Amino acid sequence: MGALVVVGTQWGDEGKGKIVDLLAQDAHMVVRYQGGSNAGHTVVKGGQKYVFKLIPSGVLHRGTVCVIGNGVVVDPADLIAEMDELKAKGVRAEKNLFISQAAQVIMPYHKAIEKASETQKGGRRIGTTGRGIGPAYVDKMARIGIRMGTLLDPPYFRQQLEDNVAETNALLETLYKAPGFEAEKIFQEYLRYAERLQEMIVDSGRLVQTAISKGKKVLLEGAQGTHLDVDHGTYPYVTSSSATAGGACTGTGVGPTAIDAVFGIAKAYTTRVGSGPFPTELTDEVGALLQRCGNEFGAVTGRERRCGWYDAMLIRYAVRVNGLTSLGITKLDVLDALDEIRLCTGYKFKGRKLADMPQEVAMLGACEPVYESWPGWGKSTIGVRAYRDLPREARRYLGRLEELAECPIDIVSTGARREETIVLRNPLLRAKRKR
Ligand code: GDP
Ligand code: IMO
Ligand code: MG
Repeated sequence: MGALVVVGTQWGDEGKGKIVDLLAQDAHMVVRYQGGSNAGHTVVKGGQKYVFKLIPSGVLHRGTVCVIGNGVVVDPADLIAEMDELKAKGVRAEKNLFISQAAQVIMPYHKAIEKASETQKGGRRIGTTGRGIGPAYVDKMARIGIRMGTLLDPPYFRQQLEDNVAETNALLETLYKAPGFEAEKIFQEYLRYAERLQEMIVDSGRLVQTAISKGKKVLLEGAQGTHLDVDHGTYPYVTSSSATAGGACTGTGVGPTAIDAVFGIAKAYTTRVGSGPFPTELTDEVGALLQRCGNEFGAVTGRERRCGWYDAMLIRYAVRVNGLTSLGITKLDVLDALDEIRLCTGYKFKGRKLADMPQEVAMLGACEPVYESWPGWGKSTIGVRAYRDLPREARRYLGRLEELAECPIDIVSTGARREETIVLRNPLLRAKRKR
């Protein structure tokens, strides 16, 4: 048994955290492969809510090894705050937490550049989370980024930092008319972070690969979602990393042949935070109802999430670019309140039906969704744990999602809590599917 990738199929917030926590019961290790504290993965356990930004969502299972992979951009202050918050709730994260020495470090100037750039863009802004994610990945690709391992070599770190601050200050002060930074101050601050984190900084690729080669079950946890992927998403309204399954290899150091299966998470409807096209968006009272019933507010920024109907075009595309082996459908219960449920099966562009998702945002923005109408079930599905206990209309709706995706559904989630789940087949254990 190799690794299982868990990936978002829409624009993030599909419920990856809940599902990773559930699957982690049977996993030896959970590895985050990209993104940073722009992510907010919610896990509800025993009446307590946890929102993970950097720490893998398997951390609540005692004994599960958690790894922050090399593809992640780490804000050490956020990570330490997250560890302390967990400690206050009785969870000792650091005992089983490792951080790749090659993971990039987010610096205060990354956030400042992002803020200045978003402000300058005005109405054309991306609507980022303000966590410095984009500028940190820019530095990585420009080969000037500071890595977690760099923090453990103070003379080298100081040199790198001084060079970067000089360059950044020129950009901030001249182009953006914003204040610059003092390298020494950042240096001292980050040395303190390094002191706290040093024991956890390791060659994580080796750690993960060793676990896999010993036959241990490993989960590779994606952040964001397929349509926020820097290559395959609705560019430029995307994040700056490879959120799709390919990123699980580059972001952890695991080769593609070590990946056994790719599990895609989709909400039973669609949401998006920030700017960018969203063909099935609802700006009417149905959208407001989804937002209210689904509690669709950002886990990190608290921003309202835009809501709309389930879009099978998005999911079909996600099946293709991630090579999905199965799907998990979350938040089915949120649809309980609806008399009619719509489902987008395709797009029309200038009156012509499209076979595939358009790659350019201008075209996607001009697409008209083609809908099917399904009857609501008029009953509560909250907490349902067996497929046969779902109302017939809900089973039909799920059957149609499966048919349109051309991908089997393994898990249906009917509530935020771990136990509020229908497991038809565990994608990690890959036993026989039961209905
Ligand atoms: P992630 O970023 O993909 O991990 O998703 P988020 O945690 O940002 O957003 C998902 C939200 O839906 C969280 O508040 C979860 O607690 C909640 N949630 C997850 N699954 C379900 C479900 O099946 N039903 C309901 N009602 N809420 C769910
Ligand atoms: P999880 O892992 C939803 C969105 C932002 C913005 C765009 C770029 O919880 O699903 P960034 O700060 O990454 O440069 O912002 O991406 N975004 C997310 N939306 N869920 C997330 O993470 C997101 N992470 C980033 O709203 O539109
Ligand atoms: Mg989230």
